[in-house]
Amino acid sequence: MAALLLSALLPLAAAVPCVQFDASFNLYAFGGENDVSLGAASSWSSPSPTTLSTTNRPPWTGNQTQCFLSQSNNAMYVYGGDASDLSSIYIYDFAANSWTVQATSGAPATLGNSRSSAVLDHDTNVIYTIIGAGQSMYQLDLGSVTNTASGTAAWSLVESPSFTTTNYDVTAALAANHIMYFGVPDTAAGSANVFVIHYAYFQPEVQAFPTTGSGSAFPDTVGQAVSLPTSENSTPYQMLFVPEDFSGAYLVSHWTDLGNYSITSDSPMDLSLINSTQAFPTPSSKDTNAAYACSDSACVQVDSTGDIYYITDAVSNYTVSSSATWSKMSYALTLSSSSSATGAASGTDAASGTATATGSGSAKAGSSTTKSSTSASGSSTAAASAAGRLGIRTDILGFTVGVAALVAATLL
Ligand SMILES: *[C@@H]1O[C@H](CO)[C@@H](O)[C@H](O)[C@H]1NC(C)=O
Ligand SMILES: *[C@@H]1O[C@H](CO)[C@@H](O)[C@H](O)[C@H]1NC(C)=O
Ligand SMILES: *[C@@H]1O[C@H](CO)[C@@H](O)[C@H](O)[C@H]1NC(C)=O
Ligand SMILES: *[C@@H]1O[C@H](CO)[C@@H](O)[C@H](O)[C@H]1NC(C)=O
Repeated sequence: MAALLLSALLPLAAAVPCVQFDASFNLYAFGGENDVSLGAASSWSSPSPTTLSTTNRPPWTGNQTQCFLSQSNNAMYVYGGDASDLSSIYIYDFAANSWTVQATSGAPATLGNSRSSAVLDHDTNVIYTIIGAGQSMYQLDLGSVTNTASGTAAWSLVESPSFTTTNYDVTAALAANHIMYFGVPDTAAGSANVFVIHYAYFQPEVQAFPTTGSGSAFPDTVGQAVSLPTSENSTPYQMLFVPEDFSGAYLVSHWTDLGNYSITSDSPMDLSLINSTQAFPTPSSKDTNAAYACSDSACVQVDSTGDIYYITDAVSNYTVSSSATWSKMSYALTLSSSSSATGAASGTDAASGTATATGSGSAKAGSSTTKSSTSASGSSTAAASAAGRLGIRTDILGFTVGVAALVAATLL
């Protein structure tokens, strides 16, 4: 009975996979039974996935996990990938195929309220996030971290946004030293709120991004947003914004001369594209909790079921190609007990009494350097672990799930 209840409720807190590129724009998919590399865009139509190292990999239990490319370091930083330990940042070294776990101090109680709430600044390696309704911007300085964990990185308070964050599912992306906030309540369509990283300052004015060519302004709606890195490893200049209503998708361009905002002569893109919006093909899977990653020319979507969709040659010379279309990859991530990636699978595991212990055990063993509990063979540890994973839910339902998990595990 408790197990049935557990499996019925768990999908609400399901963990989520993500996709990301290395600095050479090879694609990777994470958070399934295996993490895999999927190669360059030319191979995606007949992919040959290669399984990545599992040692120290994240447990992939977060439901708002973000996977950032630190392009200069050819590394990925996994943010919120361990629901029971939000203070740990898991670092994947693409070249070495190895994971390390970065310790942080002063971590806030939550990391954000969406899968696009945080941004990794390309130039400084600082993560910025806005936390909760009416809350503030925090930063995590990873400036001394490269492709492996090092020391303890410190969280600190930046300041309060110039706009209201009440009822706002933060939808942020980076372009040229500015963080754009899409879908802030009561903002004009086609405009975004702006944080200027260089001056640590929320610009009081919203910035308009007029649409070039045909197509409508992006709606004042939250969703998901990611940056497109550049092939020359500069700060990104373009962002993919996918509003949650999937009424369209948008390539939003922004560039400023970092020394003097009045100068446009060294713009890498046509001047007409600075602060502009171009219509972008709408992603295939209408999953509001899907994750996205882009190279300089292609974008990839992984939805909460593990299905992967891609669009190649979509952007050239900062311009959207009219002929590019999304395709479904023949390979999909298998979301299984090892990642606790699907609630149904976790519920079944807890009921059987062995799989939860196994899944938890591998996760603990994998990160044993930072965990005090390294054994998950006993049922009491499994119960504690299950409750811990679910413990981030603070609402009534979450409490019910946690109790159900404890009851289910105790009954075993
Ligand atoms: C683009 O937007 C930024 C941020 O609002 C602004 O500082 C800059 O002047 C704009 N540039 C142009 C050419 O409109
Ligand atoms: C910025 O560039 C403009 C246009 O070239 C110039 O008039 C202005 O003096 C420059 N400002 C600074 C502070 O260099
Ligand atoms: C890219 O666009 C710019 C501005 O329109 C243009 O000057 C340049 O020739 C284009 N580059 C290529 C490779 O098409
Ligand atoms: C993730 O879990 C938190 C805490 O249980 C919950 O408040 C939030 O709505 C969930 N987010 C998604 C996108 O499911």
